[in-house]
Amino acid sequence: MQILDGNATSAYIKEQLKKEVEEMKASGHKVPHLAVIIVGNNPASEAYVANKVRTCKELGFESTHLHFETSITEEFLLEQVNKLNDDDSVDGILVQLPLPAHISGDVVINNINPAKDVDGFHPISQGKMLLGQPGFLPATPYGILLILEHYNIDVAGMDCVVIGRSNIVGTPMTILLSRNAKPGNATVTICHSRTKNLKEIVKRADLIVAAIGRPKFVTADMVKPGAIVIDVGINRIDDPTTKSGSRLVGDVDFENVAPLCSYITPVPKGVGPMTICGLMKNTIDAVKQKKLVNS
Ligand code: GUN
Repeated sequence: MQILDGNATSAYIKEQLKKEVEEMKASGHKVPHLAVIIVGNNPASEAYVANKVRTCKELGFESTHLHFETSITEEFLLEQVNKLNDDDSVDGILVQLPLPAHISGDVVINNINPAKDVDGFHPISQGKMLLGQPGFLPATPYGILLILEHYNIDVAGMDCVVIGRSNIVGTPMTILLSRNAKPGNATVTICHSRTKNLKEIVKRADLIVAAIGRPKFVTADMVKPGAIVIDVGINRIDDPTTKSGSRLVGDVDFENVAPLCSYITPVPKGVGPMTICGLMKNTIDAVKQKKLVNS
């Protein structure tokens, strides 16, 4: 069994991106500028956003971090997005999800300028991905492709099972694994809360992507020996043995599943750092696209 090390892989990719930014700067171009909006005080979201902003600094990006109260209106948030859309110095815009219940995530995402949609959530980005056209890939699925590539894992012809059908991970993951590209060309099944015989279906998989948001959902009896397991879940569970009284676990029962696998991503230090790589690569691409349009 080999661990797919998201920390080491992302460190390697970030080193390359840092050099790319230095070259941009040396040749007189502006550095990439990512604007991140967070609404409310969800501790997990705050930690993700802090990490994204920290990575911008590490890579030499410019960043803008806007933090608003839960009580803001949808109209106010749309105004902020529009200001960033109109600001030529901003290359990428990210609105951290989830948003408070009174604000529609769909409406907000739909208002991001697609040329700045570095999270790849806008319908135009998702449509381009579906059609195999160049565009921004959603950051987490993109990060998963990057880690598979880094470890030279060729998924062509594999039976892949994606558990979870969210717009930001499960559904795009099925498209990316099955499209005629590298990585790609896999045979993909998507499972969700209404799937019958989920255990039997998952057990057939050469590659499992668990993105269902339920702690330790994938158990050893669901995994074929030799399978590759990608765990997208980040769930906080009570653990009185730790100082904080809780700890993070994935959607996979790592302890019992890992010995069966050929490769597995841990939680933390697996997919999480790769998502940030996807985001940073998209932001650099946003700058390159802008240069193409303006030249
Ligand atoms: N919430 C959970 N994952 C993500 C992500 O990749 N991007 C944004 N904007 N929100 C998220």
